[in-house]
Amino acid sequence: MQDWNVIVIGAGAAGLMCAIEAGKRGRKVLVLDHATKLCEKIRISGGGRCNFTNIHTTPSDFISGNKHFPKSALARYTPNDFLDLMAKHKIKYHEKTLGQLFCDNSAQEIIDMLLSECRDARVEIKNPVSVQNIRRLAPKSGPENFSLESSIGTLTCSSLVIATGGLSIPKIGATDFGHCIAKQFNIPMTPIRPGLVPLTLNQEDKDFCKTLSGISQECIASVKKQSFKENLLFTHRGLSGPAILQISSYLEPGKTLTIDLLPAQNIETELTAEENKKKSLTNVLAPFLSKRFAQEWVERKAQNRTPADLGSNKLRAIAEGIHKWSITPAGNEGYAKAEVTLGGVNTKDLSSTTMESKTRPGLFFIGEVVDVTGHLGGFNFQWAWASGHAAGQAV
Ligand code: FDA
Repeated sequence: MQDWNVIVIGAGAAGLMCAIEAGKRGRKVLVLDHATKLCEKIRISGGGRCNFTNIHTTPSDFISGNKHFPKSALARYTPNDFLDLMAKHKIKYHEKTLGQLFCDNSAQEIIDMLLSECRDARVEIKNPVSVQNIRRLAPKSGPENFSLESSIGTLTCSSLVIATGGLSIPKIGATDFGHCIAKQFNIPMTPIRPGLVPLTLNQEDKDFCKTLSGISQECIASVKKQSFKENLLFTHRGLSGPAILQISSYLEPGKTLTIDLLPAQNIETELTAEENKKKSLTNVLAPFLSKRFAQEWVERKAQNRTPADLGSNKLRAIAEGIHKWSITPAGNEGYAKAEVTLGGVNTKDLSSTTMESKTRPGLFFIGEVVDVTGHLGGFNFQWAWASGHAAGQAV
């Protein structure tokens, strides 16, 4: 039997940040992970360069059943706090676009930094370790609140932190462990589904996208009042690219999204311009949409005639089709391709300052397992750092 002040299950972004902060406070901390290789999500993130934060982070960049919940943790651990840590470890980074910060070299530098901070804070990390059973101990049996049956024996602790993340990319170790623990302790969950995920289409739309596969187009993708102006990517399976990933988190199954394929242009003005009347429709559209795109669009939506032949009603309908392309996806590519899991442990049960369960004192949930999901662009790691930091001050 080994006694610890704090046991963290999950040695990912949130778990390691929590362990570091708790260790620095002199707590005796053990981190357990079932994976053979630690921090795989950090390693593969941002195309191997880890988009580790976003300098423009605000609470409105997060989706949660309670939009106020992330405020406290985000205010107490900001992107600048993480940049201070990067500076301490002399890790170079750059802004790619829209406040998104990436390592100049490799995501491995972030992993090395976290593991080095763990060593300095005397945090012990053990992996691969599986946890089979968790029990809450009766208060009279001592200060240890929880007993864990694991592949390295029985462990006890006063604070137990669940940092096992979401369900995306099961092949690198994602599990529903955190969700199961919430259920075991009667902690409510909000419905979960893949987020930041490519969309799949019905056969007709899919055939169209297939012909355009590889083309990227700036657009505004919208669902209700939410919209994102970023690039869309046509793929042989459907639609992807940052605009689509972003809007996927707001798109409920079976609902329709609208795409403005030419946000910087009023294409109706071009279609009805005197100098364009005798040109083929493809040639009028080609300077704005790529030639291949213009050809396919015209073939699908209108005959390739001249604007003069088509008449104003038809031209208006073509313009509307480009500015308000309505798509009802068949579904999405699921957890195998999703960057995040939407939903999770219901924030109603958690303290927003400490991430501790209100109904199960001593039990904490941090990172992606909680019903807080960031937009694309470094926000999910910022939530992992901030929620891990918040719990690290309290465990
Ligand atoms: P995380 O998933 O990082 O860690 C969970 C840990 O728990 C893992 O080490 C896992 O092995 C362990 N675990 C799971 N089940 C267990 C069990 N049963 N027993 C023991 N251990 C268990 N975000 C961002 O801000 N910028 C980016 O660039 C990217 N890029 C990106 C790319 C890809 C391909 C994906 C899939 C995701 C991203 N993300 C991202 C999202 C980001 O990776 C994610 O939100 C954070 O890693 C979440 O951190 P957590 O610590 O909560 O979970």
